[in-house]
Amino acid sequence: MSTFTVKPKVLVARQIFPEGLLRLEEVAQIDYNDQALPLTPAELSQRIAGVDAALVTGSERIDATALANANQLKIVSNIAVGFNNFDIAFMTKKKVMATNTPEVLTDTTADMGFMLLMAAARRLTESEHWLRAGHWKNWSLAGMMGVDIHHTTIGIMGMGRIGQAIAKRALAFGMTVIYYNRRRLPLDIEQECQARYVSQEELLRQADHVMLVMPYTQENHHLIGQTELAMMKPTATLVNLARGGIVDENALIEALKNKRIFSAGLDVYEGEPNINPGLLEVPNIVLAPHIGSATKKTRLAMMHLAIDNLIAGLSNQRPLNLINEELWT
Ligand code: GLV
Repeated sequence: MSTFTVKPKVLVARQIFPEGLLRLEEVAQIDYNDQALPLTPAELSQRIAGVDAALVTGSERIDATALANANQLKIVSNIAVGFNNFDIAFMTKKKVMATNTPEVLTDTTADMGFMLLMAAARRLTESEHWLRAGHWKNWSLAGMMGVDIHHTTIGIMGMGRIGQAIAKRALAFGMTVIYYNRRRLPLDIEQECQARYVSQEELLRQADHVMLVMPYTQENHHLIGQTELAMMKPTATLVNLARGGIVDENALIEALKNKRIFSAGLDVYEGEPNINPGLLEVPNIVLAPHIGSATKKTRLAMMHLAIDNLIAGLSNQRPLNLINEELWT
């Protein structure tokens, strides 16, 4: 455990598990937002101004507004693998280290992706609502028919750690794996995942199940819109495990209503936690409240890794998951 002569100040912007707070209290003076709600941008900016480090989640946007008066800030540690809430260029300019929590959530999130795929393909949510509403009077041969998962083709967009873990699950279901990634993967990883590299268009046209797991950037905002949905098979499912902004939700709602695609499973939303009301009206969709990594074991591991990163940064050691590496070299 690192020690400091004068305890540095740390903003903990969201509620964390008590064991995390105890760890931080040993090495720092804590400004704790113990409310369930995130701080407003103005509150965040004001409270971050007086600290040496901040522990945040994807709900906090760390940009020029948040950092306007943050003159002693060394590091902002995200309890999330995705870091689209960080303006990395601005943080780097301000010499503020940025870290995230990869690896520890890979398998849990891959499980979630596969679950959304299966639930969407087999109409689990729709069936359950129907059953609960008392509509089930008789078993019928043509009742609640879905589409198959086994021995079909999965198209994974974003073949990082989570994408690869999903590919390995797909292989156990006898699926053919095709993928698109900004950069083609090394041959040994392609072989390990038995995955074939294709263009985005080929993927959308060939896949029976499309899985979105890429990082969200300015370039892929609304990457999946009306044109792309029209390329998909009418029997295809779409799962978004990445970030809401990658999919044009209004286009998706239309595609689901018109049966342009079979169904969808979403864990993330454009304006979350506000949900586009149209999504609540279509039956052929499975909706989860951004819980991809939500098991106790994984969320604890994410918190501890984020604290490790934060303490390293405060102690002038290189954080394990430093994003803006140029600050170190
Ligand atoms: C969750 O969405 C994460 O990025 O960890």
